[in-house]
Amino acid sequence: PLIKDLFGLTDLEVRLARRLGLKKVVIVPGDADQSDWVKKEMGRSGARLLRQMARPDQVVAVTGGTTVAALAEMMTPTPSLKSTMFVPARGGLGEAVELESNYIASLMAKKTGGDYRLMHVPDQLSDEAREMLLREPHIQEVMELLRKARIVVHGIGEATKMAIRRKSSPDEVAHIQHSGAVGEAFGYYLNSSGEIVSRVRTVGLQLEDLGEIESIIAIAGGRSKAQAIAAVCPAVGNDVLITDEAAARAILEET
Ligand code: F6P
Repeated sequence: PLIKDLFGLTDLEVRLARRLGLKKVVIVPGDADQSDWVKKEMGRSGARLLRQMARPDQVVAVTGGTTVAALAEMMTPTPSLKSTMFVPARGGLGEAVELESNYIASLMAKKTGGDYRLMHVPDQLSDEAREMLLREPHIQEVMELLRKARIVVHGIGEATKMAIRRKSSPDEVAHIQHSGAVGEAFGYYLNSSGEIVSRVRTVGLQLEDLGEIESIIAIAGGRSKAQAIAAVCPAVGNDVLITDEAAARAILEET
């Protein structure tokens, strides 16, 4: 806490929380765009927060990406987390395996001694395939767990960067760019007013389901994500944001 005050970060946390309508903001010093160490520190803060919030027998839903993965890496066994069930918030979004929510849910379980379920769903489903999959018992089991989720942890990305990382077709990338999308979370692409302009069709938690969840934690930093964070957090209705100093200052100054 002392170090934070020296950097003026406590004041920044209060201002950013007010600006984005969040209950709590945690800011680590630095810029994740410049150094991977900063992402690890966000992960450490996130893991600490989850440890503090944990209740026995809870369900925690997670999305993918490198920042949620950094949080997973920092998790340690504690009694409440040992009885936690980790589940992927959404089916395949086109990420590399180690960035998939499935893998990250399993990593969290491994680190904490908790349990996990996977959702084996291919990326980019047709409507018929999605309807069929939703009738599968193993998908229904995960959907049931998602309905009981107490905490959701999710990443936030820049819209175009995410469309490219997911190997979307050139047409889809162009569509996302022209739609004015700036941020992405849960497979939803949002413009700077927080309106959904595009989405990945898959099973799992939909944006409108998030209202039922007790705590929604976003973890995202780096100056380049300022616009994305400013668009996504109010739209998702986040309670907590874990970010870095560079993103925080850019959001307050530029958005
Ligand atoms: O694809 C999963 C996801 O959480 C996206 O919703 C988000 O935009 C992205 O990953 C964040 O990834 P990273 O933390 O690597 O920037």
